[in-house]
Amino acid sequence: MVSGETERLYSGASPEQVAADLEPLVRFQEEGLSLDQVKTMVESSLVPHLGRYELPSFHFLFNSAPEPGAELGAHIAVAHNQGVTNWQVSPGGAVLEELCCKALCELFGLTPGSDATIMYCGTYANQQALYMALHRHAERRGFSLAEAGVQGFGDPSRLAVLCSADAHFSLKHAVRMLGLGDSCLVPVDNDANCRMDVDKLRDVIREMGDTRDIFCVVATTGTTSTGSVDPVEPIADICEELGAWLHADGAYGLAYKLVPEASHLFAGVERADSITWDPHKQLGVPIPSSVLFVRDPADFNRVTLYSSYWNREDAVEPNPGVKSIPTTRPMTVLPLVTSIRHQGLTGVIERLRAPLDAIKELADYVENQPDLELCHHPETGILCFRVVPEECFEVSRHTVSC
Ligand SMILES: Cc1ncc(COP(=O)(O)O)c(C=O)c1O
Repeated sequence: MVSGETERLYSGASPEQVAADLEPLVRFQEEGLSLDQVKTMVESSLVPHLGRYELPSFHFLFNSAPEPGAELGAHIAVAHNQGVTNWQVSPGGAVLEELCCKALCELFGLTPGSDATIMYCGTYANQQALYMALHRHAERRGFSLAEAGVQGFGDPSRLAVLCSADAHFSLKHAVRMLGLGDSCLVPVDNDANCRMDVDKLRDVIREMGDTRDIFCVVATTGTTSTGSVDPVEPIADICEELGAWLHADGAYGLAYKLVPEASHLFAGVERADSITWDPHKQLGVPIPSSVLFVRDPADFNRVTLYSSYWNREDAVEPNPGVKSIPTTRPMTVLPLVTSIRHQGLTGVIERLRAPLDAIKELADYVENQPDLELCHHPETGILCFRVVPEECFEVSRHTVSC
């Protein structure tokens, strides 16, 4: 590379060009190719069009090139291709997942006795959390959601989940998958720093009165758009008053709880009934890697299904497969374990601190530029700002941004 020239983040080809290059790759022929032939084909046709996550110029909130410790674990996991569902199919995988989940609960300072399960992604973790929330709500109404379905509520259109206006769209998928429809998800306005405004939350609840049946409030602990962290403590108080489930969507943000200077942002998260976290976002572990925590391990019983030939009720424990819905579950936990062991907690915290510091520095810079305007004061690793064109300077200084 010539000094001063930056490497491209991918080939730069158009979708049509990429399709033309890749089309021969999927011409499935009768006779097999040698591994060398397959490798050459993939390296010449596909790899140039992949994103270069390892480049320093690749700035993305989420995924990155795998960290070496994670890569090592991923290689071992692939080599052994374990389905981590129960003791019968992967004794070591099942026990490792259980031990790691407990260790993560402790690492994040969750309530003793909390538990977790490994999920494919944050979207599914949020979905399972809302299912468990609705299930508990049904039990409190005296019926089983599994048996009666949402009709058990009489008028399911009264059911509501409250979340911030910036909550992730996976919550919309979740209410749709529960058969409740979009109107179930009620957004609450944000405060000036893009966090859920707790006064507005109280207003929405007051206005709803008896017309709606709020079974869950979602606090987003690190929004996808601005990285802002909803104030969990007062939201937890409100959930207690309502008797509603508190879900914390920390898919993006929860990792920052491990950074001492940022951990205060997450005060109260240990009071959440469930928490989503995606290690595949900041830790440099391979996709997919997601964790769903619960304060009460019995909550997982709501997704447990035993069968006569698989996940038998009398089978040897542990049975991590009964804590989440998929039957076949990858050994995602191994790269997570090897990565944390390789980096050490000090390394993990340094890795997490780097974007926090960089974003603060950038915010200080933006604040002092006449043609730039901060949209919020960053709490985690995301900053939104807008460019104010010169002709708008006067307007923006005196009135609102343009
Ligand atoms: C706050 C938040 N929740 C949930 C998700 C969904 O996670 P996943 O992409 O792992 O499905 C994301 C992804 O960006 C997110 O930022």
